[in-house]
This record gives sequence, C-alpha cells and structure tokens, in this order.
Amino acid sequence: MSTISEYRGKVLVAGATGKTGSWVVRRLLHYGVPVRVLSRSEEKARTLFGDKVEIVVGKIQSDEDVARAVEGCTGVISALGSSSVTGESSPSEVDRDGAIRLVDAAAKAGVTHMAMVSSIAVTKWFHPLNLFGGVLTMKYAAEEHLRKVFSQPGRSCTIIRPGGLRDGEPLQHRLQVDQGDRLWSGWTNRSDVAELAVISLWVPKAKNRTFEVISEAPEAQQSLEKYYEQLHE
Ligand SMILES: NC(=O)c1ccc[n+]([C@@H]2O[C@H](COP(=O)([O-])OP(=O)(O)OC[C@H]3O[C@@H](n4cnc5c(N)ncnc54)[C@H](OP(=O)(O)O)[C@@H]3O)[C@@H](O)[C@H]2O)c1
Repeated sequence: MSTISEYRGKVLVAGATGKTGSWVVRRLLHYGVPVRVLSRSEEKARTLFGDKVEIVVGKIQSDEDVARAVEGCTGVISALGSSSVTGESSPSEVDRDGAIRLVDAAAKAGVTHMAMVSSIAVTKWFHPLNLFGGVLTMKYAAEEHLRKVFSQPGRSCTIIRPGGLRDGEPLQHRLQVDQGDRLWSGWTNRSDVAELAVISLWVPKAKNRTFEVISEAPEAQQSLEKYYEQLHE
C-alpha cells in the first residue's frame, strides 16, 4: 500500500474531532496530505492531533468561521454529525444547514473536490433513524446541495453513505458498495469510510459518485480504490 499520494493541496476536515473525522485526519496524514481542521475546541483538536494539523477554531453555524476554514484549501471532507435533537448540534443545524454552508463557502473559495459522509437510508423519510430530528432528511438536503454545486465544471464531489458505524482499523474488511439507496442495514468501520473519503481526492472514478457502503467480511485490503471501479455516475 502506498503511503504517499501525489495529491497537491491542503484539505479541510470538518467534524475532525469526531470518531470518523479523526480517522479522516489520520488517513490524510498517512498519505502526506497537509490538513486543516475546523473545530469548536482548539484544546480537543490539539489533544487529538498535536501540531500535525492547522486548526481553525469555529462553529459550522458561522459564515465567517467557515469562510476562514476553507480559505486556501483545495479539498474539503465533511464528517460533521449532529448529536442532539435541538440546539447547536442538531440535525437541522449541523447535518443540513451547516453542511450546506460549508458547500457554499468551499465553492466560493475555489475548492475543487468535496467529500461528504452521509448515511444509508438517507432517501427514506420513514426509516426509524429519521425519528432523531429528521436526520436522514437533513442529510439528504445537504447531499442534494453538494451534488448541485459541485457538479459544475472544475469541481467534483463524492458522497459516502455508510451503514451503522463501528470502530477499528482500516483496510481489514471486504466491502459491499451499492447505489440507489437499496441497503436497509449493515455496518461499516469508520476508518474505511475515512479511507474512501480521502482517496476520493485523487481517484478519478470517485468523482461525482454517491454510493452506499457496508462491510461484507473480514479480509485484509491493499487499497479501497477498486470499489470505486464498481460505481456509475
Ligand atoms: N453513528 C452511526 O452509526 C452512523 C451511521 C451512518 C452515518 N453516520 C454519519 O456519519 C458521520 C460521522 O459520524 P461519527 O459517529 O463519526 O460522528 P461524531 O463522532 O459525533 O462527530 C461529529 C463531529 O461533528 C462536529 N460538530 C457537531 N456540531 C458541530 C458544530 N455546530 N460546529 C462544528 N462542528 C460540529 C463534532 O464536533 P465536537 O467534537 O466539537 O462535538 C464532531 O467533530 C455523521 O454525519 C453521522 O451522521 C453515522
């Protein structure tokens, strides 16, 4: 497995202090990609990443904070996620409005590729997960906005819809990918979701793809690039 990518540019990670986001940062650093993180807490980001990343302190609710965060970046990876039904960490504030704000700021700043962590069942308003503040509906609104804004010439996006998230090392499972939101259940390691998001920066077949992903069986993987070969636009 290659440890150095030819990707040139700095990548902003939103939600970097989260369980998936911190894997995104680790995988970017693994490939030698310069990283900036947007975090509500400098202390939390510093404790996790030391001086290996640039930190912009701010909230996803603030136009000004988000504009500062994306400035000078070529790529953005969003692993933002809500954690309460109401308030600043709610699905409407974070998964929809925050993500949409990030998409718009990224496009304005000249970001050329953006990857977003979404969820399986995101198109199914009647799924039980949606009882949590309409989280699936909110995520779908953000997905739609990202596809619209980043399918313009000179930009691209990748939307990853994982099953239930678990912890563990990356590249330890054979994956199943699908499109059309047909998977109802399944689970995925956060670290594999992070790996898929990171390599989408430079894998041509990852551009402008929306797909679901779950783990199929334990099996060491050299790379996850081959899963992008199975997708259509
Ligand atoms: N859990 C599952 O089984 C599952 C399944 C499918 C998809 N997903 C989706 O996968 C994604 C990642 O999940 P996860 O479990 O890794 O998430 P997580 O650990 O809860 O991390 C969420 C991140 O979002 C940040 N955040 C929340 N509100 C914010 C705000 N107002 N301003 C700036 N940052 C804010 C958090 O920052 P702080 O550290 O400051 O709180 C944290 O970094 C989420 O979008 C989730 O919905 C989850």
